[in-house]
Amino acid sequence: MAIRSPLINVMTAAALKAARGLIRDFGEVEQLQVSVKGPGDFVTQADLKAEKVLKTELARARPGYGFLMEESGASVGTDGRHRWIVDPLDGTSNFLHGIPQFCISIGLERDGELVAGVIYEPVRDEMFWGEKGQGAYVNDRRIRVSARRQLSDAVIATGIPTLRHPTDHPRYLRTLGAVMGATVGVRRMGAAALDLAYVAAGRVDAYWEFGLQPWDMAAGILLVREAGGYVSDLSGKHEMMTTGEMLAANDHLHLPLAALLREAIRGPSAP
Ligand code: IPD
Ligand code: CA
Ligand code: CA
Repeated sequence: MAIRSPLINVMTAAALKAARGLIRDFGEVEQLQVSVKGPGDFVTQADLKAEKVLKTELARARPGYGFLMEESGASVGTDGRHRWIVDPLDGTSNFLHGIPQFCISIGLERDGELVAGVIYEPVRDEMFWGEKGQGAYVNDRRIRVSARRQLSDAVIATGIPTLRHPTDHPRYLRTLGAVMGATVGVRRMGAAALDLAYVAAGRVDAYWEFGLQPWDMAAGILLVREAGGYVSDLSGKHEMMTTGEMLAANDHLHLPLAALLREAIRGPSAP
């Protein structure tokens, strides 16, 4: 039986509370699809409401901790050592279109190091959580990254850049071309934090994306590491939170996949 620390209890309780509103709003979204105005503004409000609930709950339980939140930005706390990194709704486009693949992501840094992560997927009621040195879990079950050793057996998650990141497209397409030619399948599920949770749970063997933000990754990085996986940016460094580049995989696949992606980005060498 997984024992949750008081810290994890604070994080999961905040996620559950914010998720209640999201689930109610997700029900409404389906109705709004057919309206002329569409659900856009409504979803923005749902996002903001969830962030407010998370901020209130986390600040109440741990006064003085700082915040980095997608919607309200950074605020420095009196504590100086701790910082919450929060995405109140990851998978917004899915949510907006009535696709049930979205989550809440809460990471915690202590002295600049990730020490705890919670990713809650309310539709399937899956709470992914982990704490540094304590392993990673989904609900009460321990999770581990997959054991697959061959890229040719692997299913790999990715995030495809959108019109918000126009300059990345040719570079990204080269990596996609390489990975689709080397693996069993590529999945674009639409919520970066859940992609990382799925690597941690061994559901996908690896995940790569460019152009991410810290709140997309913070909790997921901790979970993948605690599940025995390896996380880096494309150059093999650990600057994911600043470069926005992410490659997460089990230990066997990280190196070959990193090499494949780097080679694809370099393009065919001149004759
Ligand atoms: C996005 C999702 C998506 C990823 C994008 C993110 P949002 O976050 O995680 O899967 O491809 O890079 O920006 O906007 O839904 O919070
Ligand atoms: Ca996000
Ligand atoms: Ca978001």
